[in-house]
Amino acid sequence: MNHRILETKGVVIFHSGYGHTQRMADAVADGAKARLLQIDADGDLSDQAWADIDAAPYIILGSPTYMGGPSWQFKKFADASSRPWFADAWKDKVFGGFTNSASINGDKLATLQYFSLLAAQHRGVWVGMGMKSSNTKASRRDDINRMGSFLGPMAQTPADAAPEEMSSGDLETARLYGVRVSEIAARMS
Ligand SMILES: Cc1cc2nc3c(=O)[nH]c(=O)nc-3n(C[C@H](O)[C@H](O)[C@H](O)COP(=O)(O)O)c2cc1C
Repeated sequence: MNHRILETKGVVIFHSGYGHTQRMADAVADGAKARLLQIDADGDLSDQAWADIDAAPYIILGSPTYMGGPSWQFKKFADASSRPWFADAWKDKVFGGFTNSASINGDKLATLQYFSLLAAQHRGVWVGMGMKSSNTKASRRDDINRMGSFLGPMAQTPADAAPEEMSSGDLETARLYGVRVSEIAARMS
């Protein structure tokens, strides 16, 4: 893997209703050394954040899975991204995405599939997980990619668990994915 350093920071754009997906976003940004851009409770980002996205070599998208897809706040951001879409502003950027939800399955895949479609609509390049799943009898809650996802990191947080109680394996999986997206973006720069 090429370890060239990117001159401009990538971005992690995320929404989190109750702080769980935020922990995942922190882990991804830590791995990638990316700028965190939080979509607020009204589904908005600052003008500075939109400018940061336009300048970024890669964009990593994050949302909790709510009702089988991204939150409405994330979707408001996605619809607002029709403006850079018209201008081809995000074309050929590297994209990735992650999600978190309460159930083991919980339809998280639909959220990741939506993120990859959004990346394709912007004519970007999607980065998959690049790691195998932990799925043997010996597998444990804190293993890497215990959710067995290949499109992007999934975290599973029981409905009554605080953000502090999240699986350390899910968070480490998210961190490693951040490393991977930033390294691939550097290779392509
Ligand atoms: C409106 C709403 C819808 C939800 N829908 C789902 C769902 O479809 N699947 C699931 O597994 N969990 C679902 N959950 C649980 C959340 O995904 C889970 O609590 C998650 O950790 C919240 O992340 P956050 O703290 O970043 O908002 C839902 C929660 C809410 C509030």
